[in-house]
Amino acid sequence: MKILDGKLAAQAVKEKLKIAVEKLKAEGKKVPHLAAILIGDNGASATYVAAKVKACEETGFISTLLRYDSSITATQLLEKITELNKNSAIDGILVQLPLPAHIAEEEVIKAIDPAKDVDGFHPVNLGKMVQGQSGFIPATPYGIMLLLEHYQIETTGKNAVVIGRSNIVGRPMSILLSGNTPQGNCTVTLCHSRTKELETHCKQADIIVAALGKPEFLQANMIKKGAVVIDVGITRVNDNTKKSGFRLLGDVHFESVAPLCSWITPVPGGVGPMTIAALLKNTFQACQQRH
Ligand code: GUN
Repeated sequence: MKILDGKLAAQAVKEKLKIAVEKLKAEGKKVPHLAAILIGDNGASATYVAAKVKACEETGFISTLLRYDSSITATQLLEKITELNKNSAIDGILVQLPLPAHIAEEEVIKAIDPAKDVDGFHPVNLGKMVQGQSGFIPATPYGIMLLLEHYQIETTGKNAVVIGRSNIVGRPMSILLSGNTPQGNCTVTLCHSRTKELETHCKQADIIVAALGKPEFLQANMIKKGAVVIDVGITRVNDNTKKSGFRLLGDVHFESVAPLCSWITPVPGGVGPMTIAALLKNTFQACQQRH
């Protein structure tokens, strides 16, 4: 069993971007600028956004963090997004999800200029992705594709099972893995909460992407020997032995599954850093296309 080290692969992406940004600076050109909107006091969301802002700093990007109380109205938020759309200094806009229940995520996503939608959640970018056109690919599935590419994981003709049908991970992941590309040339099965005989599907998979958000769901009896396992889960569970009061668990029972795999991602240090690397790549691309 070998580890798909997301920290290492993300570092490689960031190093390349850093050099490209230094070149832009030396030529007197515009440096990528990401605006991140964080609403409310969800601890996990705050941690993710802080990591994104830090990665911008490390890579030489400019970032602006806009924090709002969870009482912000949908109208106020949409006004803010319109302002950012118009502001030519901003290349990428990210609204951290989930949003408070009184704000419709779909409306907010639709309000972002597709040319600045570095999360790739806008219907225009999702449509382009489905058709294999260049646009912004959602950061988590994009990061997973970059990880597969980094470790040269063979996908042609392989059976892939994606567990979870969310708009931001499972569904785009199933499209990317089934595209006619070197990194995604699989026969894909998209499994979800209503799938019958999930274990049978998983047992036939050469590649499994677990993105259902249930800690340690994927167990050894569901794995074919030699499978590649990608764990997207990152759930906080109470742990009084930790200073933070919690520990992070993936969707895969690592201890029992890992010995059966050819490759597996750890949690943390697998998909998480790749998501951020992919976001930076999208933001760099947005800046290049706009200037
Ligand atoms: N919440 C969970 N994942 C993501 C992501 O990739 N982008 C945003 N904006 N919010 C998220």
